[in-house]
Amino acid sequence: MMKVAPSILSSDFGNLARDVEEICQSGCDLVHVDVMDGHFVPNLTIGPVVVSAVAKAATKPLDIHLMVENNTFFVDLFAPLKPEYISFHIEEEKHPHRLIQKIRSYGIKPAIVLNPNTIPEELEYILGDLDMVLLMSVNPGFGGQSFIDTVLPKAKKLDAMRKRLNPECLIEVDGGVSDKNIQALKDAGVDVVVAGSYVFKHENRAEAIKSLQI
Ligand code: DX5
Ligand code: ZN
Repeated sequence: MMKVAPSILSSDFGNLARDVEEICQSGCDLVHVDVMDGHFVPNLTIGPVVVSAVAKAATKPLDIHLMVENNTFFVDLFAPLKPEYISFHIEEEKHPHRLIQKIRSYGIKPAIVLNPNTIPEELEYILGDLDMVLLMSVNPGFGGQSFIDTVLPKAKKLDAMRKRLNPECLIEVDGGVSDKNIQALKDAGVDVVVAGSYVFKHENRAEAIKSLQI
């Protein structure tokens, strides 16, 4: 079944703990946390102080998505919060293999993120070391953007690659996910979806999550 990771970027930050508790009780699989530094992306979000409050409220594992320039610094900062995954953008990392080893040394599962224009072939010699690949289906930086559907053939290509190189590696898609594109994502071989505005703007969040767990 498709796993669902609601992105708390679309939650009510004035009631963050309440919203995190609610999505966890509503059956989500992971809690997706978007960390933006105002440099790699034109937006600034939350640091370890706020994410530790999220970790305290969450009864599901955290999926931390770094959108930052200095990945190593941020990995060290967030590792003590014991997330399940930390993902970093390959476009911003000179030594992906070294960083993967560092993340793993903390007992955290490493994932690499690809922007919409980055080709999956970039991962040929590193896929074997990953627990997950995150494909962006919007330009990183903001919630509520429209789904870029070239992610579908890309996920299919990556699905073939991981079958050959690392069948255990999951494929996650992030951005503009809703009940409108979930079947196409499933058909393309995707295992995990991030959904921000679709879940948090829905009148029944449990129903929204369920509609994606196909
Ligand atoms: C965008 C973030 C996403 C975003 C998704 O940079 O990585 O996780 O919050 O939000 P929606 O589902 O609204 O596109
Ligand atoms: Zn994200």
